Amino acid sequence: PAAPRIFSGMQPTDGSLHLGNYLGALTQWAKLQDDHDALYCVVDLHALTVGPDPAALRERTRRTAAQYLAGGVDPERSILFVQSHVAEHAELAWLLSCQTGFGEAGRMTQFKDKSAKQGAEGTTVGLFTYPVLMAADILLYDTALVPVGEDQRQHLELTRDLAERLNTRFGAGTAVVPEAHIVKAVAKIQDLQEPTAKMSKSNAGGKGVIWLLEDPKKAAKAIKSAVTDADESYGVRFDPAAKPGISNLLTIFSAVTGRDKDEIAAEYDGRGYGYLKVDLADAVVAFLEPFQARAQTYLSDPAQLDKVLADGAARAREVARPVLDRMYDRFGL
Ligand code: ADP
Ligand code: NA
Repeated sequence: PAAPRIFSGMQPTDGSLHLGNYLGALTQWAKLQDDHDALYCVVDLHALTVGPDPAALRERTRRTAAQYLAGGVDPERSILFVQSHVAEHAELAWLLSCQTGFGEAGRMTQFKDKSAKQGAEGTTVGLFTYPVLMAADILLYDTALVPVGEDQRQHLELTRDLAERLNTRFGAGTAVVPEAHIVKAVAKIQDLQEPTAKMSKSNAGGKGVIWLLEDPKKAAKAIKSAVTDADESYGVRFDPAAKPGISNLLTIFSAVTGRDKDEIAAEYDGRGYGYLKVDLADAVVAFLEPFQARAQTYLSDPAQLDKVLADGAARAREVARPVLDRMYDRFGL
């Protein structure tokens, strides 16, 4: 039987991806490409919902693709491409828009949160239909599995509802109903300054995020000034409830070295937190430097990166076009 098809993507955001994206997405993607038919997409159309400057968006898209590659996405074993290069995404999004209830879309909590912050005049229709475009991204490839973070779960549920609706209205086999692919074993990386909240691009103003493309010296400094727990006994153990700061440092140590958390904890237990921080800062630098060197090989050769992305788009379109043609046919177009 064919390997199950998997689709995932991230937005090309300002600056770079962060260590949480590396552990929670890129390392997983790199693993999944061995036994899945994997498509990894830089979802630049989604980024339009926040109205970026055109030149900045183009640059971010390239940097995001370079980070996918540096993180181990292999364009020989998976399809790496940019969403806007495959026009079928936008075409299918329209078909799905006409199958999505206004109230249904309005119940998406991410839309409610973001539109509340931006006000009615500052909120675009694109922000409202964002989950419909996400559904199109997934259904366009007859995707079986979607690795998703917790905050995208509701959007994936909408995607599943839409797929089932298409099959009811237009006949069985119109769409493949995708499943969430949840990797239980993967730890969340928390913010260094606020270790009870996850490391996120939304914390961009703070000093608690490790950016994959930032100066490694800055990252080292952020580690050294990480919040730890006021615990006189200096116990180093993995215990997120009692010791969120130390536990997060152990998670990060494990993420950047591949070593077991408890083994690291045993090595530092009974010593001051400072030893752990200094060695972790070195380990983060030792991780970031080669990562950045790999990303740089792609960023310094734009023609080569363009070629990789053009090839990915061509291969993505080969999968997408027949699926979209089937949908058009079922819809009576
Ligand atoms: P952000 O919170 O920075 O906006 P996204 O929600 O866009 O990140 O998530 C993109 C991918 O990265 C998802 O697969 C998500 O599970 C993963 N991810 C994001 N933050 C973390 C984190 N702190 N720890 C582990 N994985 C994360
Ligand atoms: Na593969």
